[in-house]
Amino acid sequence: MDKFIIKGGRRLVGEVEISGAKNAAVAIIPAVILSDEPCVLENVPAISDVNISMRILREMGAEVTPLSATSYRIDATKIEKCCVPYETARKMRASYYFLGALLGKFGKARVSMPGGCPLGDRPIDQHLKAFAALGAEYKVDQGMIDLTSEKLTGNQIFLDVVSVGATMNAMLAAVKAEGLTILENAAKEPHIVDLANFLNSMGANIMGAGTDVIKIRGVKSLRGATYAVIPDQIEAGTFMVAAAATNGNVLIKNVIPKHLESITKKLEKIGVNIEQFDDSIRVSVDGPLVKTSIKTTPHPGFPTDMQPQIATLLTLAEGTSIVTEGVWEQRFRYVDELRRMGADISVDGKVAVIEGTGKLMGAPVKACDLRAGAALIIAGLAANGITEIEDIFHIERGYDCMEGKLRALGADIEKKSFPDEAVASEKKKAITA
Ligand code: UD1
Repeated sequence: MDKFIIKGGRRLVGEVEISGAKNAAVAIIPAVILSDEPCVLENVPAISDVNISMRILREMGAEVTPLSATSYRIDATKIEKCCVPYETARKMRASYYFLGALLGKFGKARVSMPGGCPLGDRPIDQHLKAFAALGAEYKVDQGMIDLTSEKLTGNQIFLDVVSVGATMNAMLAAVKAEGLTILENAAKEPHIVDLANFLNSMGANIMGAGTDVIKIRGVKSLRGATYAVIPDQIEAGTFMVAAAATNGNVLIKNVIPKHLESITKKLEKIGVNIEQFDDSIRVSVDGPLVKTSIKTTPHPGFPTDMQPQIATLLTLAEGTSIVTEGVWEQRFRYVDELRRMGADISVDGKVAVIEGTGKLMGAPVKACDLRAGAALIIAGLAANGITEIEDIFHIERGYDCMEGKLRALGADIEKKSFPDEAVASEKKKAITA
């Protein structure tokens, strides 16, 4: 088992380069299936969710050739199987994008129910509603979703909840359907615009991505394209918060400042200085951090994927802050771990009340999901003493060389491997002691 060991209390100072966006890459990679020619993807983050997506493509018969650490040539014209088995699909939530892409290309798909971060009930009823509206039939049996269709035809689809996944899946399935699809109450996240841009660069006809009505006029075929994934909004936000939590001064490069607006505004309210440039942002702190209230909502609101990180920062601010989770049911599971580090947080349903204590103490903690893990890293960097974070595979699903980037900014963080028996016997000792 791997752990991050962090010796806290060092200011982060310097420059950091943000990688490609996880949530865009995990949709764009399956979208290559729709192309009748090979594609080249650039600015792809080196994270385990990308590795799994590439493995799924290879298992189905596609040819995936790495061209550099961040770019790949993918020839999906060789795909023979339309099935994503349980063993690979369960490892990541976004395996559901193979449903839309395979359905759009071959008129059929068989994909295991997705895995991913445990954030509460994660239904996919809106994805299935969109597929059905386009003319597909679905069956869910033994954990596998089966989609079949004689022919896909454009339709008007109203999503009952604003869902990133359902919006992207509807786009993937509709892009080659006959006629016009109008997707209403669509999500507006930057990765939705990125997927639409990629599909359009292959010859698709998608308008309105980034607004709540997306119009997709079906095309007969899609050509190959070379496309660079947008920078990761959440990775950038995480480094912004890490800089603030350590009283640091960090230039965060390769970002789209417009995508960071809701995060920037909240950080400014908390007392953090932000300077914006064309494709970078400088974050620094020269005064006390102060309380605020935050509610997470779909884009352009404050992103739920930044909630654990900003809540961690608020434990270091003066006064009582309120954080309300507006998207996921179980996004406060990290709070128990932060309490072990001295945070004073009480949670009632979707609301957390944070009494800023101004300091945290190092402790052994466990990442329960991806962004919870990022929050614990921030807590460890700001804390007095040593923090050991277990289950860091969650963090590696979505952050490209987090520890290396932090070390370059002056953090004392190391990844250490522990033989599993040693961990088990350590735990046993702790239980029997
Ligand atoms: C994506 C992101 C995830 C982020 C989330 C919200 C990816 C791979 N993951 O997840 O990091 O936290 O957006 O920004 O991009 N819902 C339904 N029925 C559905 C689908 C969703 O009721 O069919 C509900 C969910 O329970 C949730 C809300 O809609 O309460 C938003 O979920 P959704 O936007 O679909 O999240 P994901 O696409 O899974």
